[in-house]
Amino acid sequence: MKNIVVIGVGYVGLPMAACFADFGNLVTCVDINGPRIEGLKAGVMPIFEPGLEEITRRNAHAGRLRFTTSYPDALNDPAAPADMVFICVGTPSGVDGEADLRYVRAAAESIAEIADHPIIIINKSTVPVGTGDWVADIVRGKQPKPIPFAVVSNPEFLREGQAVTDFINPDRVVLGSLDASAAQQVAQLYLPLRAPIVVTDLRTAEMIKYASNAFLATKISFINEIANICEALGADVKEVAVGMGYDKRIGRAFLDAGLGYGGSCFPKDVKALAHMANVQGRHPQLLESVMQINSDQRKSIVRKVRALIGDAGKPQPLAGQTVGILGLAFKANTDDTRESQPVEIAQMLEADGALVKAYDPVAMESAGKVLKDVKMCEDAYETAAGCDALILATEWNEFKNLDFRRIKNSMNTPVMVDGRNMYDPEVMRRHGFVYRGVGRGYADA
Ligand code: UDX
Repeated sequence: MKNIVVIGVGYVGLPMAACFADFGNLVTCVDINGPRIEGLKAGVMPIFEPGLEEITRRNAHAGRLRFTTSYPDALNDPAAPADMVFICVGTPSGVDGEADLRYVRAAAESIAEIADHPIIIINKSTVPVGTGDWVADIVRGKQPKPIPFAVVSNPEFLREGQAVTDFINPDRVVLGSLDASAAQQVAQLYLPLRAPIVVTDLRTAEMIKYASNAFLATKISFINEIANICEALGADVKEVAVGMGYDKRIGRAFLDAGLGYGGSCFPKDVKALAHMANVQGRHPQLLESVMQINSDQRKSIVRKVRALIGDAGKPQPLAGQTVGILGLAFKANTDDTRESQPVEIAQMLEADGALVKAYDPVAMESAGKVLKDVKMCEDAYETAAGCDALILATEWNEFKNLDFRRIKNSMNTPVMVDGRNMYDPEVMRRHGFVYRGVGRGYADA
């Protein structure tokens, strides 16, 4: 049992803190966001994550999970001085895609100034290669007096919407440090998971994270490029993915063509890795293509809508048209709309003059902060009513078995653009829709 401090209770920090508490550790979460901490003390979750509320409430009730805004109370509790502190703060994209490390710096400085005993500092946030050394320099420079510490890189591989299950069932745990003993102490935390533990140096651990996310993003851009070629050649990309996926060297996962990748990770991590390469004079030509394909994929959806209901002769080809969007989150089972493809598509439709309606089971509040003129609806049916085209943009389960007769009859023109290939083209055409998917053959061109 260890005394653990987690700095930053967001999409990574909170699920990790709750799971470590569930293993029997004493975990104290620190965040500068007072309302978020007060909410957690009252059992209110700051993020939508399946399973998180139960595990958080149960462990908080058991006294294993605590929340505070005070670094001293968290790090130097006389009854439970912290053995290790995880930095789980955001590392958003900065200028030219470089990761903005201001929050990591602030956390490192606070730890240095406040921790009054030896401690292990663990970078959980996705940070550029070399950040571990940078954190160590910051701590050494800020400590009022030299106190032993070690820095460990422990990148996370959690998918939003599956963070709790991904934490409990990792394919691997990655640890990097120049201090073998510190790495081993952190490895002990993960023993209950019985997962492979890769122990390496700081920079290699940091690169494993970037290379993993960049590869997954590459897989997605690859299948989207294949989808675009399938439309020209009359092949069905969904079947192509099935046929490819049986090859163990390829694997079926992350071969779903659609709107391209969004979210707070792939876009920023691919940009950050490309930036690191460019700074070193190594041209990241593959990563630049991955980003370009991804950007084009969102535009291709708007192009399909324009082709189906637009007027190329108008300065705004969709002026006077109403388009409905089903789903605003960057993927199902999350309320996160950061770098969300549906949000960007809504903005492009509005720029083309369309009136946009939208519905998402949980992400309308966050999307609404950006989409001021979009009419937010109560459900899919209200969204579809009166539309000239409907876009399936997020693969929420509740969109899988809609009453399509009711949807079609409520629309001005029964045009369905299925951005996630959720529906069977034949079924939709039998319902009377003019249907377009992504890479499902000639008809989708
Ligand atoms: C990702 C990584 O999967 C995770 O390991 C890392 O720790 C954080 O970044 P996340 O961004 O939460 O997780 O979502 P993920 O499920 O990976 O999907 C990312 C984006 O790719 C979503 O927009 C999703 O819709 C899209 N996607 C995913 C596809 O378009 N096709 C696919 O086949 C898979």
